[in-house]
Amino acid sequence: MNLKRVLVTGAAGFIGSHTVDCLLQRGVEVVAVDSFRTGCATNIRQCAKHSGFVFEFADISQDSVLESLCLRYRPDAIIHLAGLVSVVQAQENPDLNYLLNIHTTHLVAEAARASGTRRVVFASSAAVYGDSEELPVSEAVETRPISLYGMAKRVSEQILEGHAKTFGLEVASLRFFNVFGPRQDPQSPYSGVMSIFAKRFAEGKPVKVFGDGSQTRDFISVFDVAEALSQAAAVPAIESEICNVCTGAPVSLLDIISEFQSLYPEAPEPLFLEAREGEILHSAGDPVHAASILDFHAGVPLHEGMKALVEVNQPEGLKRSALVPQLA
Ligand code: UD1
Repeated sequence: MNLKRVLVTGAAGFIGSHTVDCLLQRGVEVVAVDSFRTGCATNIRQCAKHSGFVFEFADISQDSVLESLCLRYRPDAIIHLAGLVSVVQAQENPDLNYLLNIHTTHLVAEAARASGTRRVVFASSAAVYGDSEELPVSEAVETRPISLYGMAKRVSEQILEGHAKTFGLEVASLRFFNVFGPRQDPQSPYSGVMSIFAKRFAEGKPVKVFGDGSQTRDFISVFDVAEALSQAAAVPAIESEICNVCTGAPVSLLDIISEFQSLYPEAPEPLFLEAREGEILHSAGDPVHAASILDFHAGVPLHEGMKALVEVNQPEGLKRSALVPQLA
């Protein structure tokens, strides 16, 4: 569709900020919205001088906040990435999970309806599949989330499907697999393995492997994820679609470690610890549907994606600004 302006929620987050970069590169105007609950102003600092970029500091989990923004800016599409990103936190705080990962999606759908915004692109997750044994898992598989986080992502997909069926909203829910890349916070114990390993290697400390390292994941670069989201906002005429965003080529932790070792030849040997309880051994997505609906093909080779991560993991790249710069 003719995409002139996109509103991005969670724009200062890990995936949000790369999506803003990608949209601006494509010549699309961006209304970037974030409350800095977990997002970081430095992630979008580079966009501030771009003429097609506007920043709005706002908490969209509050009623009518997003609706007002949509009425003011009249975007062609909303890319909804704001949410509670930690699976563990969602389990520990079900109220917050409900507010940020379910109720806010309803507010997004209603804001789109009230403002005549044509399309919503939603950040869903492979967590909706639970521990599905089908590998690679396709969108046709029955979803069986095993966490409150996965449940909330599935409910959100259904809220949006409801608006698609009854109000004609165009919807694309993208189920992300293991996303990695620059700007992912490595500090928290809930961080993805790739960001934790990158930090440990950069510091010359041994990585901790839970289990024997033979577990596999479908690691996808955040640069590819930003492309997939931008494509989902731009492709002509969709109704209600659900697409995996993955490579289809799972990699083991041992492979990841040897890739890091080639970048850090002096690194100490990894420590092997007990496997985490209740964890799935293998995860992989089927990328065929995203290829046909979004014309999306993961294009960043693992090695290149990891090099980008290593480059920013120098001490300077880890600094987070305590101050919120003036953006708009
Ligand atoms: C991700 C989620 C998890 C969720 C699951 C299913 C994150 C960070 N994790 O887990 O909460 O339940 O999807 O949807 O989003 N590992 C190590 N050493 C480390 C860190 C991790 O060996 O320091 C291992 C883990 O045990 C795991 C693998 O690396 O086997 C990947 O871990 P992680 O990045 O947390 O992703 P998922 O396990 O896929």
